[in-house]
Amino acid sequence: DGNASVAHAEDSFLNIAHRGASGHAPENTLAAFDKAVEMKADYFELDVQMTKDGHLVVIHDTTVDRTTNGTGNVKDYTLKEIRQLDAGSWFGPEFKGERIPTLDEVLDKYQGKIGILIELKQPSLYPGIEKKVANELKERNLHKSHKNIIVQSFDQNSMKTFHRLLPQVPIGVLVSLSENPDGISKQQLLEFATYADYVNPNHKLVDKDLVDNIHLLGMKITPYTILDKQTAEAMVYNGVDGIITDYPELGFIK
Ligand code: G3P
Ligand code: CA
Repeated sequence: DGNASVAHAEDSFLNIAHRGASGHAPENTLAAFDKAVEMKADYFELDVQMTKDGHLVVIHDTTVDRTTNGTGNVKDYTLKEIRQLDAGSWFGPEFKGERIPTLDEVLDKYQGKIGILIELKQPSLYPGIEKKVANELKERNLHKSHKNIIVQSFDQNSMKTFHRLLPQVPIGVLVSLSENPDGISKQQLLEFATYADYVNPNHKLVDKDLVDNIHLLGMKITPYTILDKQTAEAMVYNGVDGIITDYPELGFIK
């Protein structure tokens, strides 16, 4: 809509920092999101789950074991309990004291400064999570297509639900290699096109035909997770619209 506040032209190559700049700072923490801003990524990606008492928190695994000093399922913690955990030390002592962020603090801190790609992680474990995320966006007037917010999931039903709730928010469908070992069919793409704006596959699923077919259907493709220059170059060669990477320095390739 010609809104001058939009930082990046719609057709520019998107450099998306995976779980923040997670090659440089502990994933899904404010430190990793700050680093993504500092490195001038276009977006950072984050993973959302829900606590026992219904708060939206930013963490990748369904347990806290790998990335904090605690143990157990995210869904068995209250917000107060989960906020006590140290989500930084596992990555390096200088990150001691990083907390598991809440979605609302991340939206408040970064909206308008960088794009945010919100992944609903295992939403079938958290009935009603689509509505809660939708409400967080609506409260902040972030439910418009030019606000540089994208919502994605591997769970296609969840994304259809989200699209019904907030039809103006761009949707991404994540596609894993393990569930699609023979590639992504035209039939699948036609179905995605009924509600999605982005198809975000494992980079190993990407070839020129896939990119062309996605573009023919009016969608974009930003594959994950690019970890080296050679893969980043291959993605550009195939014509993708951006990459999701732990190392935003790789995303300035185009
Ligand atoms: O954004 C794509 C990527 O985050 C999907 O995989 O496991 O890192 O959440 P995962
Ligand atoms: Ca993710």
